[in-house]
Amino acid sequence: MNKKTVYSGIQPTGCLTLGNYIGAVSNWLKMQEEYNCIYSVVDLHALTVRQEPAELRKNILSFFALLMAVGLDPQKCILYIQSHVPEHCELTWILNCYTYIGEAGRMTQFKEKSQRHKNNINMGLMDYPVLMAADILLYQTHLVPVGADQKQHLELSRDLAERFNNIYSPTFVVPEPYIPKQGAKICSLTDPASKMSKSDEDKNATISIIDPPELIMSKIKKAVTDSEKIVEYREGKDGINNLLTIFSAVSGRTIEELASEYRDKGYAKFKNDVGEAVVECLCPIRQRYQELIADKNYLLSVAREGAEKASRIARKTLRKVHRKIGLVER
Ligand code: AMP
Ligand code: TRP
Repeated sequence: MNKKTVYSGIQPTGCLTLGNYIGAVSNWLKMQEEYNCIYSVVDLHALTVRQEPAELRKNILSFFALLMAVGLDPQKCILYIQSHVPEHCELTWILNCYTYIGEAGRMTQFKEKSQRHKNNINMGLMDYPVLMAADILLYQTHLVPVGADQKQHLELSRDLAERFNNIYSPTFVVPEPYIPKQGAKICSLTDPASKMSKSDEDKNATISIIDPPELIMSKIKKAVTDSEKIVEYREGKDGINNLLTIFSAVSGRTIEELASEYRDKGYAKFKNDVGEAVVECLCPIRQRYQELIADKNYLLSVAREGAEKASRIARKTLRKVHRKIGLVER
């Protein structure tokens, strides 16, 4: 009963990349054995940039199936779709009243997305991290497994929890980020100085976890490296460092071990073996995904059951919040 609670979410946009898998989802998988885990497809977050409705609807179920395909098991964790649990929006409104415009405006992701979507700098874009804080705080979460890019958002969640607890009395668990030491930032294959991103226009930059084997091999063979010949992990070798990190994550071997094995073997052989290791890791996921996505009714039934369980926990927190701030009981 005193297991810690773990919460995380992923937006149903673009495809689920190898970066998402290594930086976040593979840790969700490990944690489901040990903690009370709650994972969500955060569709409301995706609305902060313009989505095509038919595509969004398809993507939400597709991401849900992908999470199950990697091995998240509805018998072991709660899996649900964010918009199915309306308590998220309710708590967001309340937390908004405890969030300063200045602190929301300082968020790096808000500034970046405002730059990228200049004609659609909407309130939701600024409110994104408050909705994320509501996701986390509703479930009295102890640990949040995310990639490095979410660190600042997690800090805001912690600040909001502490602020609320200080004004009233202890109400929310103050969540801790869980950012892996290795793999928290998988980089683009074509521009290894920047993050591998779901929304990258350049299809060779990212690997989707359901890309077919030939495509994975060809993208890795085209990956940008450098003009040296030595496989070695060090500053200035972003491309090779990234491939070593990927290789290590999918094979379970250490970077040191791989670097010493491949040091003088040449980049072609190295890339070939990285590719094969990625294919081997992702192949079973792709097969399970194809089975799951063919059974929409089953996916919906799992999502519904997950939402009911999540909602029960969320309502308990909300009742407590309502009481503390002075709302009248229903
Ligand atoms: P998003 O793609 O923004 O919905 O992110 C889902 C999860 O994957 C978050 O925990 C991110 O921090 C993580 N993530 C996204 N891109 C990467 C990446 N390139 N490397 C490592 N983790 C990532
Ligand atoms: N903002 C996160 C991302 O882009 C997704 C997310 C939404 C999330 N709510 C969350 C992650 C709650 C962890 C916990 O990656």
